[in-house]
Amino acid sequence: MTIKKTWWKEAIGYQIYPASFKDSNHDGLGDLNGICEKLEYLKDLGIDFIWITPIYASPNVDNGYDISNYQEISEIFGTMADFDLLLAQAHAKGIKVIMDLVINHTSDQHRWFIESRKSKENYYRDYYIWEDGRVDGPPNNWTSIFGGSAWELDQETNQYYLHVFAKEQPDLNWENPKVQHELFTMIQWWLDKGIDGFRVDAISHIKKLPFSNNIVDNPLEAYTNAPGIDVYLKALRDVVKKEDILTVGKANGVSAHDALEWVGEEGYFNMLFEFEHISLWSTGEEQGIDVLKLKRALTNWQETLNQKGWNALYMENHDIPRSVSTFGSDQVVFWRSSAKALALTFMLLQGTPFIYQGQEIGMTNMPFHSIHEINAVDTKNFYRNMVNTGVTPERALDLVRKSARDNARTPMQWDSSKYAGFSTHKPWLVVNPNKSYINVQDELADPDSILNFYKEIIRLRKAHETLIYGSYRLFLKDHPQLFAYQRKLGNDRFVIIVNLSCDFATVDLPSNIKFEEWELILNNLDDGPLQQHTLFVPYEARVYRKKTA
Ligand code: GLC
Repeated sequence: MTIKKTWWKEAIGYQIYPASFKDSNHDGLGDLNGICEKLEYLKDLGIDFIWITPIYASPNVDNGYDISNYQEISEIFGTMADFDLLLAQAHAKGIKVIMDLVINHTSDQHRWFIESRKSKENYYRDYYIWEDGRVDGPPNNWTSIFGGSAWELDQETNQYYLHVFAKEQPDLNWENPKVQHELFTMIQWWLDKGIDGFRVDAISHIKKLPFSNNIVDNPLEAYTNAPGIDVYLKALRDVVKKEDILTVGKANGVSAHDALEWVGEEGYFNMLFEFEHISLWSTGEEQGIDVLKLKRALTNWQETLNQKGWNALYMENHDIPRSVSTFGSDQVVFWRSSAKALALTFMLLQGTPFIYQGQEIGMTNMPFHSIHEINAVDTKNFYRNMVNTGVTPERALDLVRKSARDNARTPMQWDSSKYAGFSTHKPWLVVNPNKSYINVQDELADPDSILNFYKEIIRLRKAHETLIYGSYRLFLKDHPQLFAYQRKLGNDRFVIIVNLSCDFATVDLPSNIKFEEWELILNNLDDGPLQQHTLFVPYEARVYRKKTA
């Protein structure tokens, strides 16, 4: 079988976290007009579509992931007219626009929930999940992803409602056909507006196990990829999976094993943000990368979907610390080369690459000085729980520094000015002091910058179908430092070899390779021919192509 060609397979995506991207009206928060101002920058980078995280009306308990009206734009970001303008301007530049679709839950300020909690008889009661408590408390022992019980007692009717995330984010009841109907009508309304697709949030949680289940080991089991979810996903697929519409599901808990069902030709989505590679590190002190595990996780997805589905390639988003600080090294000596090494590793795999704002300039984690500099609700809960159980505030802050989502949410660094060119007003979240040398303006001017390296990779990828549709094959599987793979289409072949460690690494290749047939076409450090034994310095990355006769 050959893969069907589509625009989104050939495209490069860019994730915008609007609060931190560009502030056009100087109130300290980014906005839609700010995105418009930077479309030219994105075009120049080689971006084909942007995914904007939620910009709908919201009380912002979870920065827009708590939606109070799906068909209104949050006033902090602008108006619907601003959105229409952004859509038109983006399209005029050939950039498509993907919206975030948050349909596992709403805000507790959504009209449906305000009604729902009024009485057991209310028309909207069954839009959400209400249960009686047990004598000693909530209906069962399920916990929320953001910490604490997943159930909240509502005094009004003395019943509990379910929330997989914050208590201000009640879960919608997908069992109720009226809920599905409302959501599908809203989705169609956005599609009719002319948007180009959806990133579908938290979608593996829409089905829950029976509430009689008490969960023993993994709290996620209660509401992640639960049996029966396929019925809802098929209904959703019939609404969103249209010719030319990009859909990418955020699917925590879906393994490569289930991948074909989710993203095969008949799958629910075009592609998935899988979690296996990013969950190789999570909360905690263990920083750094386990190259063997990373290769195993990514190769598993590459091989499972080869010719049968499609991958979404990412190493950053608004929920995880910066890749250069976790997978690479943000020490000055390795910062540049490790960011480039990671870029080469990820961007040339099979799938659609998503770049998260700031990744292309190598933005790093933030050296937070105090918990008061943190905004994210889950991190604050995590910190409080640690301190309540006897962890010292210093130690708790240390753990927060390494794991907080806010590491990725600090304002985009456009230049080295006081607020990094993001705003002239004090931003809602602290600016990373390294804006003095990590910023767009300086990197545009520096031919050796991370930004210009990203541009080169994007250009290379777009110039060769092999790097888009070609097959993937892992080399040097057991090498603990090197990530090496081949992309091949017909007779055209590329080999990507990256040292993902901060030590020297020896590349030993079989002697039967005709080394003179291979040409170096992109690298981040010294030039060098492909040889049987080659020493790669820390974070060295090279791409070779087989010369055609
Ligand atoms: C997704 C989003 C995250 C949000 C959560 C709840 O995980 O990426 O930012 O907090 O959903 O909507």
